[in-house]
Amino acid sequence: MALACLFQANGQHNGAWRMPEAEPGADTDIQHYIRYAQKLEAAKFDLFFLADTPASRTDNLEVWTKSPIYQNGLEPITVLSALAMHTRHIGLGGTMSTSFSEPFNIARQFAALDHISGGRAAWNVVTSANDYAARNFGLDRLPPHARRYEKAGECVDVVQKYWDTWEDDAFIFDKEGARQFDPAKYHVVDHDGEFFKVYGGLNVARAPQGHPVIIQAGASDAGKELAARTAQVVFGTGGSKEAARAFYTDLKGRMAKYGRAQDQLKVLSGLNVIIGDTVQEAEEKYEYLRSFIPPELSVLYLSMDLETQLLDLPLDAPIPEDRIPAASNHHTAYFNQIVELIRSGKTLREIAASYKRGNRFMCGTPEMVADWMEEWVSEGCGDGFMLPLAYLPGILDDFAGKVIPILQERGLYKTEYAGETLRDGLGLDRPVNQHLL
Ligand SMILES: Cc1cc2nc3c(=O)[nH]c(=O)nc-3n(C[C@H](O)[C@H](O)[C@H](O)COP(=O)(O)O)c2cc1C
Repeated sequence: MALACLFQANGQHNGAWRMPEAEPGADTDIQHYIRYAQKLEAAKFDLFFLADTPASRTDNLEVWTKSPIYQNGLEPITVLSALAMHTRHIGLGGTMSTSFSEPFNIARQFAALDHISGGRAAWNVVTSANDYAARNFGLDRLPPHARRYEKAGECVDVVQKYWDTWEDDAFIFDKEGARQFDPAKYHVVDHDGEFFKVYGGLNVARAPQGHPVIIQAGASDAGKELAARTAQVVFGTGGSKEAARAFYTDLKGRMAKYGRAQDQLKVLSGLNVIIGDTVQEAEEKYEYLRSFIPPELSVLYLSMDLETQLLDLPLDAPIPEDRIPAASNHHTAYFNQIVELIRSGKTLREIAASYKRGNRFMCGTPEMVADWMEEWVSEGCGDGFMLPLAYLPGILDDFAGKVIPILQERGLYKTEYAGETLRDGLGLDRPVNQHLL
């Protein structure tokens, strides 16, 4: 099974930064990132992943002080380039938005990262899901969901065209003949589409992986369709086994019409673990972590994901049905989860306490976690896991020290990296240049 880590300097849980072991200033300390990338590599993780949104929050700042995520972080490509110099094998993935970046910039930066890292780059394609980002780029709000995905589809196509500007052997460095490259192996990108009009080419040789790995995490129909056509890795949100299996089968079932084999896309299911020597100990750790989150912060997250303001409502009453917007324009999966909770008749306080933003938390012993992971993969719910490590260093130490050895003993997880590149490690084909097909 493949393993990715969603890395946040002190852990991905909103309470993590307040724990005694959390390190103030870690978000902007590159040495901190390097130490963790090396730890993850020692544990043979396939992918170190940095999420991103090109914005900070501009309102409700007093409440956001309690969850400073996105208020103070380093830009992914810069961090990943630095990590490339201090790691050898682990994949390096980062988010870049198709709504707010030009295809040339995306293609160039990820191609450069792929060269710098020797074939370990991965691009997480997102359409961005908040209006804070839109307002940094001249818009009042995000364009509609469907339009964002149409643009994303065209953006990925243009990025891939740029990545195929040069054939693999285009650069010959013929000193005698005074020819650095073979012009017959250069292919100009001449694209005139609905969202992008470009004429040009990438100014860097074809990437070691041909194309850096493409990741996606959209759960909507449009998101799944784009992933089925273009992605090699999909981050699935957790949920029940039945829901995950349905997602997996649906997503992989969509690939055939694009001429793609199902094993060329790996679904990594979100898995939040809290590990203890007993279940009770793990649950106590989880409650301790949750104790660092004030209720108003949970209500603010609910407001954001339901795309309407809830901070004015009483905590101990149900959320009125008329507060539910007609449709989601941001995170479909999160939105649907909240609507379900509202319709169950729970109070706002109860909903705030049980809402996990798509994160499945599993509290258990190392054996239980390993059993659960084994069943998940063997029953067709996913090809591996994406771990948003809830707090650091605790969760990583527990998982790497206690769960991974069990998985390795059972032959379910590698003891050495396979090959040189991220594609090699994940068993993904290296794409043939589209001009040679
Ligand atoms: C594990 C994971 C990581 C994500 N990382 C990002 C991110 O870095 N930036 C972002 O804007 N959205 C991120 N998303 C959100 C999705 O990419 C997607 O935009 C969102 O789910 C809305 O699309 P949908 O309506 O198709 O589900 C992430 C989602 C998941 C599950």
